[in-house]
Amino acid sequence: MEALKGRDVLGIADLSTEEIQGLLHLAAQLKAGQVNLRCNKVLGLLFYKASTRTRVSFSVAMYQLGGQVIDLNPNVTQVGRGEPAVDTARVLDRYLDILAIRTFDQKELELFAQYTQIPIINALTDWEHPCQVLADLLTVQECFGSLAGTTLTYLGDGNNVAHSLMLGCALMGMNIRIATPSAYQPDNSIVEQARQISGGRTEVILTDDPVIAAKGVQVLYTDVWASMGQEASADERIPVFHPYQLNEQLLTYADPDAIVLHCLPAHRGEEITEEVMEGVRSRIWDQAENRMHVQKALLASILGTD
Ligand code: CP
Ligand code: NVA
Repeated sequence: MEALKGRDVLGIADLSTEEIQGLLHLAAQLKAGQVNLRCNKVLGLLFYKASTRTRVSFSVAMYQLGGQVIDLNPNVTQVGRGEPAVDTARVLDRYLDILAIRTFDQKELELFAQYTQIPIINALTDWEHPCQVLADLLTVQECFGSLAGTTLTYLGDGNNVAHSLMLGCALMGMNIRIATPSAYQPDNSIVEQARQISGGRTEVILTDDPVIAAKGVQVLYTDVWASMGQEASADERIPVFHPYQLNEQLLTYADPDAIVLHCLPAHRGEEITEEVMEGVRSRIWDQAENRMHVQKALLASILGTD
């Protein structure tokens, strides 16, 4: 169980198609109780932003593997008093076996990776959210049996989750459609990277038309309109994003077996309606559960097992 031994995961494209397939397979085995892995190592969680799912799912995964977790909240470490990242990184490197970081700037994550020998995991930056998308891929695979050939439509802001979805879908042979207001498209470098990975074999489509994007697709996915750190612009975003709301009417354009995903936390009545979130097409709670299984597989693969 050492497929990814020692590796950093700063973005989802740090993993190959085969490596993601391997992780999803192991996660499914762990979820079904078919394997019971042990990994007596120490995970640090350095989170500069709030988190429920990522914090708890990483912690429980590590505990279930027989390992330990240390919460390195900036408020209770010298990080919050301004100790430089390059100093913190070199010290934590001497204590921990692996470090998951949630921060704003992807460059901060890269700095930690540069100044440490231990594996660094992206637990969300403004640029990417790779662990989320591993769980999303597991959920789609559970629902449809395979990933290749399915189409996922993401509605809303071209943010961190949209970025990782674009790359993750392209890696797994899925078609991806991104429907955003024109001023909120994903970064062009991510679009180019996704198209390069896809090599023209799958759709990588950007549109400002949510109905065209939703037609016939197997997965409808949305996220908040204002991410953490964008709270000041939340009110002005609401009218711009309103046409992209994931509601019952939009769902009628999708495949009759389409599923609805949301990484959470959700704002009911904004990016998704209450009835869709709680409706029969929603797989949101399975998706949240899958964070734990896929991250357990990731930890075991990177750290190795006892
Ligand atoms: N989806 C997700 O990452 O949730 P948290 O912000 O609660 O960790
Ligand atoms: N795009 C959201 C995802 C939260 C899990 C954010 O960055 O706040």
